[in-house]
Formats: sequence, C-alpha cells, structure tokens
Amino acid sequence: MTDRLIDPFQRAISYLRVSVTDRCDFRCVYCMSENMSFLPKKELLTLEELDRMCSTFVGLGVEKLRITGGEPLVRRDIMKFFHGMSRHLESGDLRELTLTTNGSQLARFADDLYAAGVRRVNVSLDTLDEEKFAKVTRWGRLPQVLKGLDAAQKAGLRVKINAVALKGFNEEELFSITRWCAERDMDLTWIEVMPMGDIGNEDRLGQYWSLDDVRAQLAEQYTVTDLAERSGGPARYVRLEETGQKIGFITPLSHNFCESCNRVRLTCTGELFMCLGQEDMADLRKPLREFPDDDRALENAIRGAIALKPKGHDFDYSRQKLDGQMSRHMSHTGG
Ligand code: GTP
Ligand code: 5AD
Ligand code: SF4
Repeated sequence: MTDRLIDPFQRAISYLRVSVTDRCDFRCVYCMSENMSFLPKKELLTLEELDRMCSTFVGLGVEKLRITGGEPLVRRDIMKFFHGMSRHLESGDLRELTLTTNGSQLARFADDLYAAGVRRVNVSLDTLDEEKFAKVTRWGRLPQVLKGLDAAQKAGLRVKINAVALKGFNEEELFSITRWCAERDMDLTWIEVMPMGDIGNEDRLGQYWSLDDVRAQLAEQYTVTDLAERSGGPARYVRLEETGQKIGFITPLSHNFCESCNRVRLTCTGELFMCLGQEDMADLRKPLREFPDDDRALENAIRGAIALKPKGHDFDYSRQKLDGQMSRHMSHTGG
C-alpha cells in the first residue's frame, strides 16, 4: 500500500472536494458577482482527466469525494463521471461519493445519482420564501428546487440542507426552516458567511450572523444537546430533543475548525487548493497532461502540495472589520 497523504501538522488527508465546473445557473450574492465571467471551456479538465485525477487521489488514500462547482449538475455529461467513480465504491477504496448542489437539476438526475452509488446530497437553500429565494440567488426559482428535493428523497438519497446564516435575511426563518426540515426528515446545517469574492457593495460584516447566536435562539424553544459525532466534514452537530432532529453548525469564523482539517480542494482547471481560506495552490494539470501514461509525476506533485498545506485560514470578523478577506470566488474552489 502506498503511503497515505499526511500534512505537516500530522493531519491525514482523506477528503477531496472537486469542483467540476465554475458555471452555475444561479448567482448567489455571497458566492458570485452578477456578471461573473466564466472560464473558456477548453481550460477545464476533461471528464477523463477528472477521472484520472480523482482515481489517483483515491489510490493515495482519499476515502470521501465530494463533487461541487459552480453547480456540478450543469456540467455536460457529468453522470458519466459519477458512474466512472462508482468503481471505487465497489472496490471498497472509496467510502463515500457525494455532491453539493443547488438542487435546480435534481429532478432530472436524482435516480441516476443513486444508481451511481451516491447516497447523500447537500443542497443549498437559504430561505423558503419564493421572493427572497429569487433575490439571494439573483433569479433562481424555489419551486424547481423543491421539486428536486422531492425527487432526491424519492430516489432514496439522504438530503442535507445547507443554509448560509445571513443577518437581516433569514434570521426570522430560523424556526420555520428548522420545522420544515424536521417534517421532511432532512438534515440541516447552518454556515457562517465567509468573506470571499469581490464583495463590492455587499456588506459582509453586516450580514454576519454568528452561529453561537443561532444556537442560543434554538435553545429558547428546544432542548439542545451537543453531539460528539463528526461526519468527516467541518460541521459540529446538536440534537433537538423535542423533534430528534440533528442540526449542524459550520463555524469558520466563531470556532475555527482547522485543527481537524482532513480535506483539500481541486478546481475545475486542475489547481489544488490546500485551504479554502488561503491562496496557495499547486498546478496538477501540468503533470497530468505532460505524463499521460504515467501517474508518478502526478502523485509526486500531490505529495509536494500536501507538504505545503497551511495550518488554517485567517478569516476574522472579531475586530469589527473583515480580516483574511479573499478575492477568490467560492465558486472557484467549490465551497
Ligand atoms: P458533510 O459534512 O459531509 O455533509 O459535508 P461538508 O460540510 O464538508 O460539505 P458541504 O459542501 O455541505 O460544505 C458546506 C460548506 O462548509 C462549504 O461550502 C463551505 O462553505 C464550508 N466548508 C467546508 N469545508 C470547509 C473548510 O475546510 N474550511 C472552511 N472554512 N469552510 C468549509
Ligand atoms: N460563505 C459561506 N458559505 C458559502 N457558500 C457559498 N459562498 C459562501 C460564503 N461566502 C456555500 C453555499 C453552498 C456551499 C457550497 O457553499 O451556500 O451551500
Ligand atoms: Fe451557484 Fe452554489 Fe454559488 Fe449559489 S452558492 S451561485 S448555487 S455555486
């Protein structure tokens, strides 16, 4: 067995997040600018290259693959890639193949995703109000996403809703979203908004709603019990005793979780980002293309990159100003 990927802080890297496209049919205000310019298609790794890249990571001990974007399901023929990856599930080398999606295409793809071995999807949904949904996504249609969620559950996929906590936007929906998820047996995770992308006239500091506050508000109506379990992702979980439902909190700002980081991110052009909140990256497309029949150069480049994984990000709102802000858009690295 080849040596597994261990970074300089003795963290084992077992989770690869892969952005398969920078395109998206929505433009969430905290993720993309309205007139985002997208990469020319020829810059993207082909589906065959993505397969080779991911398979190399699996060979190096990656057990969890999360496909993201942009919106992964708008990439043409993406199901071919999912079906290709299912061989690693069958061999037992990969424990989980999953995706984070905006849900707009789920009605079309849910059955096929299940057939490829996907068992869980994370769907971004920040509001249950049609008008507000159209506003935060700039033109998304909520009913289309709700249909997708239905189809996913019918197909047998476990659904987790990701809601970005936004002050003055979805604060008053805390309890309605919680109840809505409980009624449908969906998991729910709240995410603190991170200062990424060209913030322009967006007031990120003003939008920041700490999840300590979310938790405290929930505790006014429910008995909230902390759970020790982790999903292999960054979320910490609590259980609401009255409904039995599990709520996740992703708190890069208020409780940084970098010490247990187990993941790296591959962009759709083959750059490997070692941290969501840092600019350092390694170009893996070069060794991939220069040596089409030999994976050793690619493996060495991956090991070299992991050796440079930083300790953590520098996001910080605590001094009432935006520290660690990054111009890179979230859609570039896939969140
Ligand atoms: P599971 O725990 O497997 O459900 O997945 P996950 O939480 O890793 O994946 P998901 O795509 O749902 O992640 C939700 C969001 O959490 C991401 O889009 C990011 O906004 C944030 N996130 C995930 N990983 C990291 C990380 O390493 N650092 C920071 N700062 N944020 C992260
Ligand atoms: N801060 C926090 N979460 C974000 N996401 C996108 N941009 C940001 C941001 N600036 C979330 C999306 C989706 C996931 C991939 O990342 O809502 O759930
Ligand atoms: Fe698209 Fe997701 Fe970014 Fe929204 S957060 S614009 S749905 S990639």
